[in-house]
Amino acid sequence: MARILITSALPYINGIKHLGNLVGSQLPADLYARYMRNRGHEVMFICATDEHGTPAELAAAKTGEGVAEYCARMHGEQAELAKGFRLSFDHYGRSSSGRNHAITQHLANKLAENGFIEEVVEKQVYSNADGRFLPDRYIEGTCPNCGYDKARGDQCENCTKQLDPTDLIEPRSAVSGSTDLEVRETKHLYLRQTLLKDEIDQWIDSQAGWPILTTSIAKKWLHDGDGLQDRGITRDLNWGIPVTKGDAPWPGMEGKVFYVWFDAPIEYIAATAEWADANGKSDADWERWWRTDKGADDVRYVQFMGKDNVPFHTLSFPATIMGSREPWKLVDYIKSFNYLNYDGGQFSTSQGRGVFMDQALSILPSDYWRWWLLSHAPESGDSEFTWENFQQSVNKDLADVLGNFVSRITKFCRSKFTEAVPEGGAFGEQEEALIADLTTRIRAYEGHMEAMEVRKAASELRAIWVAGNEYLQSAAPWSTFKEDPEKAAAQVRLGLNLIRLYAVLSQPFIPDASAAMLAAMQTENDAWPEDVAAALSALPAGHVFSVPDVLFRKISDEEREDWQARFAGVRS
Ligand code: MF3
Ligand code: ZN
Repeated sequence: MARILITSALPYINGIKHLGNLVGSQLPADLYARYMRNRGHEVMFICATDEHGTPAELAAAKTGEGVAEYCARMHGEQAELAKGFRLSFDHYGRSSSGRNHAITQHLANKLAENGFIEEVVEKQVYSNADGRFLPDRYIEGTCPNCGYDKARGDQCENCTKQLDPTDLIEPRSAVSGSTDLEVRETKHLYLRQTLLKDEIDQWIDSQAGWPILTTSIAKKWLHDGDGLQDRGITRDLNWGIPVTKGDAPWPGMEGKVFYVWFDAPIEYIAATAEWADANGKSDADWERWWRTDKGADDVRYVQFMGKDNVPFHTLSFPATIMGSREPWKLVDYIKSFNYLNYDGGQFSTSQGRGVFMDQALSILPSDYWRWWLLSHAPESGDSEFTWENFQQSVNKDLADVLGNFVSRITKFCRSKFTEAVPEGGAFGEQEEALIADLTTRIRAYEGHMEAMEVRKAASELRAIWVAGNEYLQSAAPWSTFKEDPEKAAAQVRLGLNLIRLYAVLSQPFIPDASAAMLAAMQTENDAWPEDVAAALSALPAGHVFSVPDVLFRKISDEEREDWQARFAGVRS
């Protein structure tokens, strides 16, 4: 038995996440967590809302709530939706927690003690009307290069030229539109990442098994990008973690907070401490996951995230950890994802384009979405959600293949025998062949799940469902029954046992359907099939079951067209 720490990238607090966000981190992390638990490993699965930064402040201002109030409400909403999608976090924390304040401040102080912090005075744009410094991207104006009049202070969207806010012609605040801007001096803490470059480089090189997507992004940023320049880790904002030295404000940094990307990954640690607090556990109970001097050296730590998050997790967060010179656990494996597109374009939070988590659940139960999203996870390249494809997968894989199998065998048994596993007969050649085939396939499925090859795992699982259908089709107990009812009994017994087996194997993908199958089979035996033959006689003759309701319904063409139209525009 191993101990596995799993974290999903933390969703930003502002706004409900879309399905592209979901499949890029939280959902595959959940798949892996469920699988590892089912294999008997000790799992700690952590997520949280990422609550700091300017976007959260602005979103709160828009709703008229205080930012703390806004974050508390949105955290509640996101936690509800996570439950709706059956994301099995051990804890869903908040980066604004007291635990994160303490650990973030602690780490910053350690970095300072070790010479990795520098105070830098820089010039930044201050908006008198807004009463605040403006981050580069919240300054708008005319692009000096192409004349586009909505260029942002960090980049012109129109001609893609990288800009400084001072390059803009007629700059104005994107918050209020005010042109009453001035350049002021302000002091910030910089993390001297350049001093850690060789250490990080060596560490990345020593991670032999990382996926190519992860390593290539990390290396690119390390060597040709500006990923490892020294960078500011504080901001002139009100909402965030105050910059302290020991127990007091950091001299000269009063009223400033840490940059959101500095404290967010630290929340992985803090959320585990929050888990301990919420469950009456001690510090030792969470530290054994995170401190290599307190038991975490035998933990395997796996992170899930979209590709845009990779530089922060391969360079910046490790720099924080390493620079502390304390024995914190570093990540062992980073599973990263490409993007999921939506119907010929991109999912977009700012434009409200695509299907969002709340909308998805208002249309269909979570298993339908989980199956489609995971079986189309954007692993080797970007992938695309279309309603046609969604309809086809649901109708074929879930309704025709799996759902139909369950319904056929249970109904047949009820009509020809009783609602109990029939006795008599014995398994013959055909059954032996099926067991051999399933054994090969299940071992392959396990391999893909261990390797976090999500699509491959999904297609192997589908093949396992298909194998059962093909067996049923060719064994045809409805014909056998006429000449050889004993043989038909053995076939049906195998079929009913296959339902239990499918429930166990499918649980990480479609947990609700899995629970419904086990409930119909009236069993709590969800043991993993180490031995397939044994697993297929787990439900003995005489074991009572019930015919379940339809597991998966089909999506009609009408519904598909209706949804397509409904979600073609932008969310208001
Ligand atoms: N909120 C960020 C995003 O959605 C991810 C933060 S991951 C963390 O891109 F680890 F840094 F928190
Ligand atoms: Zn331009």
